[in-house]
Amino acid sequence: MKITVKVDGTTYTDDVEPRTLLVFYLRETLGKTGTVVGCDTSNCGACTVLMDGRSVKSCNVLAVQADGHEVTTIEGLAEGESLTPVQEAFRDCHALQCGYCTPGMIMQATDLLSSNPSPTEAEVRTGMEGNLCRCTGYHNIVKAVLQASGQGSTTGGEQS
Ligand code: FES
Ligand code: FES
Repeated sequence: MKITVKVDGTTYTDDVEPRTLLVFYLRETLGKTGTVVGCDTSNCGACTVLMDGRSVKSCNVLAVQADGHEVTTIEGLAEGESLTPVQEAFRDCHALQCGYCTPGMIMQATDLLSSNPSPTEAEVRTGMEGNLCRCTGYHNIVKAVLQASGQGSTTGGEQS
């Protein structure tokens, strides 16, 4: 089936099989390997991208469902060399260790803050609960999201 999708500001038209998942279209057809697969069963959130500004797990969406829509991946978030506040906060707060979950975490946090710009810590934890991390214990991830919202410390971070 032919689909036309705007991804990270560029419009692509491609033939895809009806069963092709959006995550594999992004990675294998478009080469957007910043979006990663952690579980392939819609549990971990590593594959999270924005579709029309809202977060979706791209292993849970068919490529054909993205036809006519706009998708933003981690690779399209920054403008040139300028990181977004969420990206900067993840860096500043040491909110990643292996980094595997980080693209999905950042996309989820971006959606969370766009709908709730000043979340409480509890709202951050609830909003991020579909994204799993094996490394960080979540403390610094939550701290980063709060910092990106303009709340919380702007310095340092704990390593756990
Ligand atoms: S790879 Fe999509 S949720 Fe885990
Ligand atoms: S930083 Fe390693 S899985 Fe989250």
